[in-house]
Amino acid sequence: MTTPPRPLHADSLSRRDFVRLSAGTVAGAMIAASPALASSGLSRLTQPLKVGVIGCGGRGTGAAVQALRADSNCILHAMGDVFADRLASSLKAITEEMGDDAPGKVQVPAERQFTGFDNYHKVIESGVDVVLITGYPAFRPEHYRAAIAAGKHVFAEKPLAVDSPGIRLVLETAEKARQKNLASLVGFCWRFNTGMKGAFDRLHSGAIGDVVSAHTTYHTSTLSKRPRKPEWSDLEFQMRNWWHFNWISGDHIVEQAIHSVDRLAWAMNDKMPTKVTCLGGRAARSGPEHGDVFDHFAAIYEYDDGRRAFHTCRQIDGCPSDNTDYIHGSSGSAIINGWVPTYHFKDKSNAITWKGPGKPEDASAMYQNEHDDLFRSIREGKPINDVERGANSTLMAIMARMAAYTGQTVSWQQAMESKESLVPDKLEFGPFPTPEVAIPGKRKLI
Ligand SMILES: NC(=O)c1ccc[n+]([C@@H]2O[C@H](COP(=O)([O-])OP(=O)(O)OC[C@H]3O[C@@H](n4cnc5c(N)ncnc54)[C@H](O)[C@@H]3O)[C@@H](O)[C@H]2O)c1
Repeated sequence: MTTPPRPLHADSLSRRDFVRLSAGTVAGAMIAASPALASSGLSRLTQPLKVGVIGCGGRGTGAAVQALRADSNCILHAMGDVFADRLASSLKAITEEMGDDAPGKVQVPAERQFTGFDNYHKVIESGVDVVLITGYPAFRPEHYRAAIAAGKHVFAEKPLAVDSPGIRLVLETAEKARQKNLASLVGFCWRFNTGMKGAFDRLHSGAIGDVVSAHTTYHTSTLSKRPRKPEWSDLEFQMRNWWHFNWISGDHIVEQAIHSVDRLAWAMNDKMPTKVTCLGGRAARSGPEHGDVFDHFAAIYEYDDGRRAFHTCRQIDGCPSDNTDYIHGSSGSAIINGWVPTYHFKDKSNAITWKGPGKPEDASAMYQNEHDDLFRSIREGKPINDVERGANSTLMAIMARMAAYTGQTVSWQQAMESKESLVPDKLEFGPFPTPEVAIPGKRKLI
């Protein structure tokens, strides 16, 4: 078992570290305030980290609280959302959640609350050190590009993009982040779940022999809907119901089931497939209010060593749910489900040989773990950057959607080089047609 990540609190630095770093120089507080010395060891370890959040929905609210708890010298400084009502409810929820700590930690006056499509530039330029990018997937690549260009550390939710041009921009930006020594952590939260890490470490240490194949599932109920209000334009309706629209969400294999696609990648030791064939459609979803997304996908990934791996996802009411990883090895199998949690390793006779950690942590701890890791890496001057891995998993999901929509087998190279761009360059609230639902065999692979 791996040990849980240790939360970093700036005030948990040993006194010896502090004295060693400040010896022979002026008082720590003055150094921390000096921009010229902003990259010195002491200021890195002690200066307040100002956080800005872009995308103040459920996840942005949670991530802001986790960031504030990850580091005792961290302040929420600015917030941005396209919609003022979302920003207001998020700020209220964060303030309530932080309780007695709110006055010191939540410092977002009206002049640092930004709305409209250009909110992200204003958040980034407001004097923040760390940006939490938690809006809709369509905008992730541009938000990430702008944050790194301005020299900010980043937490970016999954998925990293909805299309291949987005993936290419994210990969270019990750390289720039590396050159600038900036952190970029992607919200593939199961990678930060202690029980899951223990199970995958065990898998990769050969507990079931060589991994031969795997099947991950994300079978769940359907999406909720926000009924259209008379004052909403077409675009506002689509954005408020973003899960139903491929151009904003990437469809549910990219937006939701991607956690299980990522664990399929993890099971295959992050080796990427050479191609994918994917069946999909909408059996229980119809009408423009459901946009253009499918309600089921079944992806068959092929690898250059002849192996095949599978992912299925479904969003249909009245069918059993399942969100499990079934992994097959040369000497046994593993069944992994972090929610229950279940970590069953079996031998070839199907007898259980290992049942996981004695007392696994609550699954929701993984969200705190990822922020603890991010802030620790910033404080230690060893910024984490797991974007390439996150982009690979995102492209695995995008290529499956491309294969399902077109009915074609899609190679990794075709997916990486695709020119299909889903996100308009400029958006203004007003008329915006509902995209047509893809018909396999007719939709062209671009
Ligand atoms: N890692 C996880 O387990 C997990 C869980 C939930 C959501 N997510 C991801 O987090 C992201 C947000 O999901 P959510 O559940 O918070 O959705 P949400 O609808 O609750 O919130 C998204 C917010 O982003 C805002 N937004 C959209 N575009 C924006 C832009 N261009 N600039 C600023 N704000 C913008 C929206 O107005 C909304 O308030 C999605 O990518 C989702 O997949 C991840």
